[in-house]
Amino acid sequence: MATNPEIERRRTFAIVAHPDAGKTSLTEKFLLFGGQIQVAGAVKSNKIKKTATSDWMDIEKQRGISVTTSVMEFDYKDYKVNILDTPGHQDFAEDTYRTLTAVDSVIIVVDGAKGVETQTRKLMEVCRMRNTPVIIFVNKMDREAKDPFDLMDELEEELVIQVRPLTWPIESGPRFKGVYNLYEHNLNLFQPSKQVVTEKVEVDITTEELDQRIGRDLADKLRGELELIEGVYPEFNVDEYLKGETAPVFFGSALNNFGVEELLNTFVEIAPSPRPVQAEERVVMPDEPRFTGFIFKITANIDPNHRSCIAFCKVCSGKFSRNVPYYHVRHDKTMRFSSPTQFMAQRKTTVDEAWAGDIIGLPDNGTFKIGDTLTEGEHLHFRGLPSFSPEMFKYIENADPMKQKQLAKGIDQLMDEGVAQLFVNQFNGRKIIGTVGQLQFEVIQYRLEHEYNAKCRWEPVSLYKACWIESDDPAELDAFKKRKYQYMAKDREGRDVFLADSGYVLQMAQMDFKHIKFHFTSEF
Ligand code: G4P
Repeated sequence: MATNPEIERRRTFAIVAHPDAGKTSLTEKFLLFGGQIQVAGAVKSNKIKKTATSDWMDIEKQRGISVTTSVMEFDYKDYKVNILDTPGHQDFAEDTYRTLTAVDSVIIVVDGAKGVETQTRKLMEVCRMRNTPVIIFVNKMDREAKDPFDLMDELEEELVIQVRPLTWPIESGPRFKGVYNLYEHNLNLFQPSKQVVTEKVEVDITTEELDQRIGRDLADKLRGELELIEGVYPEFNVDEYLKGETAPVFFGSALNNFGVEELLNTFVEIAPSPRPVQAEERVVMPDEPRFTGFIFKITANIDPNHRSCIAFCKVCSGKFSRNVPYYHVRHDKTMRFSSPTQFMAQRKTTVDEAWAGDIIGLPDNGTFKIGDTLTEGEHLHFRGLPSFSPEMFKYIENADPMKQKQLAKGIDQLMDEGVAQLFVNQFNGRKIIGTVGQLQFEVIQYRLEHEYNAKCRWEPVSLYKACWIESDDPAELDAFKKRKYQYMAKDREGRDVFLADSGYVLQMAQMDFKHIKFHFTSEF
């Protein structure tokens, strides 16, 4: 726990969800409470419309929004809240995973009717890798939802975390009456309101008033359910939440701004202030006096005529100041930043100082790579960010023989930005780009053409997974590489990667080579 009050009051987190669960709506309501916007609808979703076919121009248009809203910060009560925005489109999931390395906690939004979805599962996996504390918000209770007890079981089983409801819904859909707050022991009745922050109506559940408000049957049902909850779930324990073992659960409707204030109030109270960060050399404590930070995201400029990007730096310790020389560890050189920016809901401003927990935007002309560390002189390396095995693979080929150099440079820089992953097949020397979705290929092609004046062509390669391999048995590793020589590649760090062309092949390889470990993320 930080002892510096400036650091202690910071809450740096991300709201994540399977697309359409309500992340944008919840973010917007938080900004309403934070006084950053006055009416709902002011924040545009940065997701790419579902109806649009994969069209890069659409993304280009919307990128303006996602750049400026990459981080949203506001003061709420005595807290400084930093919300890190993540792309709404599934094809950019990798970007979301990286953002999760810069947060101290996470709120996961789940659609009450759909429950846990693919992306929810994957996001939780990433949180689990770092023991990130998680709060779950079950959204859209104004629509017909699953039974709340079934939902709790589903969350627990599918997300592999203990859950503890802190609010409890009274019915859902047209019958939705409100939520009971198990933390403060009061009841908030549902008043749909999309435009303004409404006052809540409080009712003591032990009194007759409850029966009058929601009817005798529902009142009895609620009393029964609360008894069951207290019997089934152990007391909520903040330490278990902070260790990432238990996830408190809230119910509500983001669109109707219902249950959101309870969530925000509890969040600022229990969510961790900036946590210690593990560097390769040592653990860095947030309230150390010296500044350290790392780059977790690089965003290309919206204006294609200016190739400069913004590198997002998470301040891990101490205080960052404008125009002070800092040490760029990988380049082994000193740099100063005259116009670092911080982000409000929709504008960005130059800042003079930032504290551990804050995110600052540094103008970048190719000096930064994801994972780069800045310090006051110490040789420190914050741990590599995990790469996941991509889902789709294609050979990238040069389509303009005169522009070979430009293409190589473009690919190199786009990979530094973390747009996709590059593997070089050791057998034929061909470059393979791995992505999460089709859109990324289009982004790469478009950007190579417009920013680097290079043309590329995609050629199919049928692959199932890329696995990072290692073994304590060098002879076996050698034998494996010889046997699979056509499918061996190197990633950008020079690590061995096995490109399996089918699930069956992978399974057979795992059976035949018992001492080789096959990893599906680059962090092991
Ligand atoms: P996302 O960022 O997680 O993708 O979700 P987003 O907030 O954009 O919400 C997805 C859709 O779900 C939106 O509808 C939104 O209005 C709706 N929604 C969000 N929260 C609630 C809720 O509590 N109750 C109900 N009934 N709906 C909710 P849309 O039709 O896709 O977009 P829009 O035209 O409403 O903007």
